Amino acid sequence: MDETVVVTGASRGIGKALAVALAHGAPAPQKVVLVARSASDLDAVAREVQGAGVAAACVPADLSTRAAATDLAARLAEHLPAPATLVHNAGLWPSRRELTGDGLERAFAINCVGPLLLQRELLARGLVRRVMVVGAGLMVKGRFDEARTPTGEDFSSWRTYCNTKLAFALATRDAAAAHPDVDFVVLHPGVVRTDLGARPGLLGALLRLAKRSWETPETCAARLRDVLGRPRWSPPGEARWLFEGTEQPWPAVADDETTRRAVRQALSRALPSEVAQAGAAGAQPSAGAYGPISPER
Ligand SMILES: NC(=O)c1ccc[n+]([C@@H]2O[C@H](COP(=O)([O-])OP(=O)(O)OC[C@H]3O[C@@H](n4cnc5c(N)ncnc54)[C@H](OP(=O)(O)O)[C@@H]3O)[C@@H](O)[C@H]2O)c1
Repeated sequence: MDETVVVTGASRGIGKALAVALAHGAPAPQKVVLVARSASDLDAVAREVQGAGVAAACVPADLSTRAAATDLAARLAEHLPAPATLVHNAGLWPSRRELTGDGLERAFAINCVGPLLLQRELLARGLVRRVMVVGAGLMVKGRFDEARTPTGEDFSSWRTYCNTKLAFALATRDAAAAHPDVDFVVLHPGVVRTDLGARPGLLGALLRLAKRSWETPETCAARLRDVLGRPRWSPPGEARWLFEGTEQPWPAVADDETTRRAVRQALSRALPSEVAQAGAAGAQPSAGAYGPISPER
């Protein structure tokens, strides 16, 4: 794997295990770039990666605001000598409705808008050749509401998680159509024993108990590393859906045109660009909506 791999959400859980697994792989990438908020946790992961003889760079960042996601792209550019593989793994299972400084529901921002902005900026700079989205099989439970999901007016811990994972998967299908030169894939990683959705109190204790039978991040990471090692994921212009490493047809909700349109409209408002004007004018954003921005912006 003669390349640089950027892993978001690399401070713990699946992302951390994946970074370490990549470093121990054969072939290993030349460099792993680690992104998450916790700089100290990233440093610890970087030491593990370097211990396996692979270069590592830490780029601490918060994906929850548009400004931070855009700034992250600029900082990442310094670490990418050639077009890289971007693994969108950072994610949040929210426990309560919170709005970001941009006025977006926090999980919608972290699971969808921030990563899309980051990706759009990196694509515009020609810095990405492959994009892997760590999605969730639970997207099948998504009931995305164009008017209410972005601001969490329909918030429910469970449904909001499903909605935001569905939105990012659908946006990825559009991004793939707009960028046939880039290889995209969306996958369900498995049911994995991590901090995702951790809660205090009795509910948290019960959840921790239930998770004891779930697979370890290391088992999941070995599967993801195998997928990363494949020469090609999807035909040009498409993003395929993998369930635990095996390709499957997209679930019906991901083919539903009403839902796809709702997600496009919501994202055309949430992502600042010429796309917002297209959305406001009532035009249906093209597949390029989540793609390159014009160079003068
Ligand atoms: N675990 C499962 O069973 C499962 C199943 C299906 C899908 N997934 C997906 O797998 C991915 C990884 O989840 P996980 O289970 O490993 O969860 P996790 O242990 O909670 O890890 C989440 C990662 O995301 C980062 N993150 C959270 N908020 C962030 C923010 N605002 N900005 C930047 N990074 C942020 C966290 O780092 P910091 O806190 O340091 O920022 C952490 O590294 C997620 O996309 C999740 O939806 C997991």
